[in-house]
Amino acid sequence: MKKKIVIAHRGASGYLPEHTMESKAMAFAMNPNFIEQDLVLSKDDVPIVIHDIYLDDVTDVAKKFANRKRKDGRYYVIDFTFEELKTLKVTERFNPKTGKQFYPGRFPKGKGSFKLHSFAEEIELIQNLNKSTGKNIGIYPEIKEPKFHKKEGKKLTEIVLKTLADYGYTTKEDNCILQCFDAKELERIRKELKCDLFLVQLIEFEKETKNFAHFATYANGIGPWYKQILDKKVSGKWQFNALVANAHKLGLQVHPYTFRADQLDEFTSFKEMMQILLIEANVDGAFTDFPDLMINFLNSQK
Ligand code: G3P
Ligand code: CA
Repeated sequence: MKKKIVIAHRGASGYLPEHTMESKAMAFAMNPNFIEQDLVLSKDDVPIVIHDIYLDDVTDVAKKFANRKRKDGRYYVIDFTFEELKTLKVTERFNPKTGKQFYPGRFPKGKGSFKLHSFAEEIELIQNLNKSTGKNIGIYPEIKEPKFHKKEGKKLTEIVLKTLADYGYTTKEDNCILQCFDAKELERIRKELKCDLFLVQLIEFEKETKNFAHFATYANGIGPWYKQILDKKVSGKWQFNALVANAHKLGLQVHPYTFRADQLDEFTSFKEMMQILLIEANVDGAFTDFPDLMINFLNSQK
């Protein structure tokens, strides 16, 4: 079996609050191939590792800076300086309207002492851990909402590419995969900004699964939602559509998101989910909140 890569999605986010340094250190100890960073800019142009352009579903911003919300009632990363962001307490993801924790079985909301951090700080953690352990774990950053950043007068992509270059990530050999949902922006990254990194086009909408030939003109892989690979069950057995085969024909790797042991939907166990999607659907790797479980599963296949 060709080696499949394990991407620690937002760190070991099944066990510790997503995108905290603690979650990244725990993920590192589990030996994934890559650790993921979602990136959003602060008011003073520092790339921050956080999943959304909003702060109020993973921090105590509504308590600490009550009067800094926008008209839509949300608190935006881009309205705060890095110094201000560092004063916030990060917690397990919750619904800001109800206060209810999103994944009830995970690390308890409001407990612990977690902070936001910059992309550079996380790269340094991973690079220095690579040095102290002799490992070579890669990074898998995502440019978040480029249109929103542009509308706000911000150059997220250029700043992220500069940070990557400063830390030695410039080519496909540098153990970094750059991802983005926005196809125009990822194409611009390759064709206008002349980026030579391994690029993965994330796929949100069904109609985008028709665009693979175009994606292959600038990307090296695609990141579909795992449900976009499944067709239907026939006599109790999952059938797959042509997504993976079509991508492979064009030389594109396939890294679906997101494998969660506590959100199984159409599967009866995490093992079944991994067997069907990783092995039978023949993808090249996957994003998971539970890197240890995926690594154990893949090791058991050898
Ligand atoms: O980036 C791939 C994976 O993370 C899915 O997207 O929404 O969790 O950033 P999201
Ligand atoms: Ca992501």
